[in-house]
Amino acid sequence: MNNNVCQFEGVNSESPLAFRHYDKNKQVLGKSLAEQLRFSACYWHNFCWAGADVFGAGTFDRPWIDGSADALTLATQKMDYAFEFFRRLDVPYFSFHDRDIAPEGRSAKESLYNLEYMIDLAGKKMDESGLKLLWGTANLFSHPRYAAGAATNPDPDVFKFAAHQVKNAMDATLKLGGENYVLWGGREGYETLLNTNLRRELDQLGRFLTMVVDYKHKIGFTGDLLIEPKPQEPTKHQYDYDTATVYGFLKHHGLENEFKVNIEVNHATLAGHSFHHEVATSAAFGLMGSFDANRGDPQNGWDTDQFPNSVEEMTLACYEIIRAGGLQKGGFNFDTKLRRQSMHSDDMLLGHVGAMDVVAKSFMNAAKMHEDAKLQAFVDDRYGKWQGVQAQQIMSGAIDLSTLSSEVEAGGINPTPVSGRQEMLENLVNRYIF
Ligand code: XUL
Ligand code: CO
Repeated sequence: MNNNVCQFEGVNSESPLAFRHYDKNKQVLGKSLAEQLRFSACYWHNFCWAGADVFGAGTFDRPWIDGSADALTLATQKMDYAFEFFRRLDVPYFSFHDRDIAPEGRSAKESLYNLEYMIDLAGKKMDESGLKLLWGTANLFSHPRYAAGAATNPDPDVFKFAAHQVKNAMDATLKLGGENYVLWGGREGYETLLNTNLRRELDQLGRFLTMVVDYKHKIGFTGDLLIEPKPQEPTKHQYDYDTATVYGFLKHHGLENEFKVNIEVNHATLAGHSFHHEVATSAAFGLMGSFDANRGDPQNGWDTDQFPNSVEEMTLACYEIIRAGGLQKGGFNFDTKLRRQSMHSDDMLLGHVGAMDVVAKSFMNAAKMHEDAKLQAFVDDRYGKWQGVQAQQIMSGAIDLSTLSSEVEAGGINPTPVSGRQEMLENLVNRYIF
């Protein structure tokens, strides 16, 4: 890596490491793009993975993985590299799992020592660089003890271990001034129903999340708690399937005001939805929190975590985000990874620079769509009749089913179908895109 920081140079720039659209100081909808988008790079794919897959060994130069020095020296080496990368990308936030930055020890006590040691170091580096923490989380899926789940494990001792790890990861997040705490249900699901008590596992998960909420309030953490839905992988079925499922689950446990969601693009598509759908659903239920911005491959049924490159997809999602009032504590976190053959020393920066440009361009498109308000005017008009006095009485509960039935029987009501104008609206949206 050379030492240059990636900078905005505009659409005519020929420099591959320059931003063509992401001008962090540009004012859009009353704030700078940096404040609107709150970009974040992740620790795990970038620095903890050497490119190994189930068929082959790592391909990237990550000397701290499997190095011969002691574990904390290697973790420090990794952190030096990570902070240098964040500096060069000029990204304002990062995100991490406890085990990404601190190695698992031989005992719970040693793991905690390692975590506290590395968190102190991260805190110093954050102070020096101005980098902020978008969210912290705990890795409750890599260690073999979590093979049958963490909170949903048949063994209460594993539940206890998960509680210990989450408590410490929340403490670490608080200490670093993290703005959110994420819970992705890594193995909270099942491989087969033949060995699974589904209702019991869901109740355990509800209890676990209630304990997390209690602890958040106990320590005075003012960030948002975020659940990250995903339908499958690594398990055959994950309980936090999608945003609507998470909402039902939270309602059932009385937790709907305590959590929001961290929506990942590729998790949405694996659930058979568009990212647009998941963002709109989260906004509709007041659950919009943060985003893991990546993409899948339409031919693959797994989580490929590629860098986002669809301005069309992102524009629609950004439009929903803007309509819902914009990002509050959340951000655009790149839960993205390189392809295994991407071994050039610039590839990781190039992936992020391109992704930030895609999101910035999309956000500016969506801001224009929002300001012009043509789409909104069409939708408002489409539901306009629901503003009528009697229509409002239907919704408020003042009118019952038989009253409506009698009215129809009496005659005079004869609704005629109206065009949804989909093609016209698709053309309208495309005007903001190209
Ligand atoms: C896995 C995934 C995780 C979460 C954090 O698919 O997205 O990296 O974002 O645990
Ligand atoms: Co994610």
